[in-house]
Amino acid sequence: MQITLISDINHNLIPVNNKIRIQGWIKNRRKSKLGITFLDLMDGSSIRSLQIVASDSLNNYPNEILLITTGCSIDVYGTLIFSKRKEQKYEIVAQKIQILGWVDNPHTYPISSKKHTLEYLREVNHLRPRTNLILAVSVVRNILFQSIHSFLFKEKFYWIPTPIITSIDAEGTGEMFSVNVKTEKLNNRNGSKEQFIYEKFFNKESFLTVSGQLTLESYASALSRVYTFGPIFRAENSNTSRHLSEFWMLEIEAAFFDLNKILLFSEKLIKYVFESVINIANLELQWLSDNLNINLLKRIKSAINNKFIVLEYSEAIKILNKNFVHVKENKISFGDDLNSEQERYLVEKHFRNNNIIAIINYPKKIKAFYMRINKDAKTVAAMDIIFPYIGEIIGGSQREERLDYLDKRMIELKLNKKEYWWYRDLRKYGTVPHSGLGIGFERLLMYITGMNNIRDVIPFPRTVNNANF
Ligand code: 4AD
Ligand code: MG
Repeated sequence: MQITLISDINHNLIPVNNKIRIQGWIKNRRKSKLGITFLDLMDGSSIRSLQIVASDSLNNYPNEILLITTGCSIDVYGTLIFSKRKEQKYEIVAQKIQILGWVDNPHTYPISSKKHTLEYLREVNHLRPRTNLILAVSVVRNILFQSIHSFLFKEKFYWIPTPIITSIDAEGTGEMFSVNVKTEKLNNRNGSKEQFIYEKFFNKESFLTVSGQLTLESYASALSRVYTFGPIFRAENSNTSRHLSEFWMLEIEAAFFDLNKILLFSEKLIKYVFESVINIANLELQWLSDNLNINLLKRIKSAINNKFIVLEYSEAIKILNKNFVHVKENKISFGDDLNSEQERYLVEKHFRNNNIIAIINYPKKIKAFYMRINKDAKTVAAMDIIFPYIGEIIGGSQREERLDYLDKRMIELKLNKKEYWWYRDLRKYGTVPHSGLGIGFERLLMYITGMNNIRDVIPFPRTVNNANF
């Protein structure tokens, strides 16, 4: 018999009095005195559990049903009826319940039905998807993925998967994990520990990618509008609530776009995907709002309804020096990078409305080699888009399409021109103005879900000193 999903029931797609079969895990078991036990069942399809009514007329009632605990998996056959309880619309009166998997020791089951801290849940990362919290985040994560793809498809962008193994440092910062082959050393006869040697597999040093941008530019130089969306690896020593060593980045690259056009495009994308999340993940957002005590709908709607504020870097410094930095020695000078407290002051306090801010035209010395030099010769056509509560979520720029300027920058930054020969070719053969951006997917998800730590919005976080599971 076909299996029904709890979400289909909650969406009123299954007629009452139908015989149905559902499968899932027990959230909770409650026994009432009258020979009836209530089981709350989750199957991952909905944040709302479904109540199963099991009575002592079931032949395994005393020896199995009464022993069911949180976490057990079951297979239920029964009749869907309207529930008499206010909290739920439907329930199932069971005619047969088969236990698929018991919980070894209910007292030590790591995901008991009580509330757990986020820190604790990270220690039982393999079981934390069983919590409503991680379920809600996963649902929103999925919708965010889907809506990004559908927006870009609608806007006629091609999805170009760029390589994960690379020999080039796309950001020029050297924060890369290297890729080698592990081979066992043969001569360990004298009982010494096994030894391994690591050898190059390719004919040169290779790394896990820090950005797909440069190879994406190659496709933008022919297909015009392209994007890549995949895992990114950064060996940054940043142990913060916003940094991962492995995260997902959406990167967009568009020929014939200048900085202003890519900025407007990013605003359109954000508004589109936020609308989708509100429309499709309404229940999950509500659950997150209630449990985290944040009005997420208000937060997201405010992003949809307000225009991004565009602010020159030089203006940002003036504002900060005037209103935020009160000690003379700590004044920010042109050429200093903004830290996250300064960014958050601008976005949360200075502009009050909690608008999203795009800071543009940064000094070239704090930005990557590929960004286009402005007429003032000091700044580049770059943008960092800053969100309330999180800080930078999007980074982008107009790219330097003029070979002589690009070469000059590479020399200034001591990058080996030969390594970038093919990237330079794109400027030699039919170069065009073009722009692009990268969106930190998990940071965007933090903004939408209200989660404070990036470790809780990716299924298995990798951070400094931690690659467990
Ligand atoms: O600003 P970033 O470094 O830009 C680039 O890599 C460009 N190549 C993108 C492009 O133009 N194609 O990174 C882009 C975004 C950041 O704004 C941030 O949201 C996210 O990626 N990000 C991280 N997210 C989690 N953990 C980290 N360690 C991150 N580093 C960057
Ligand atoms: Mg950046």
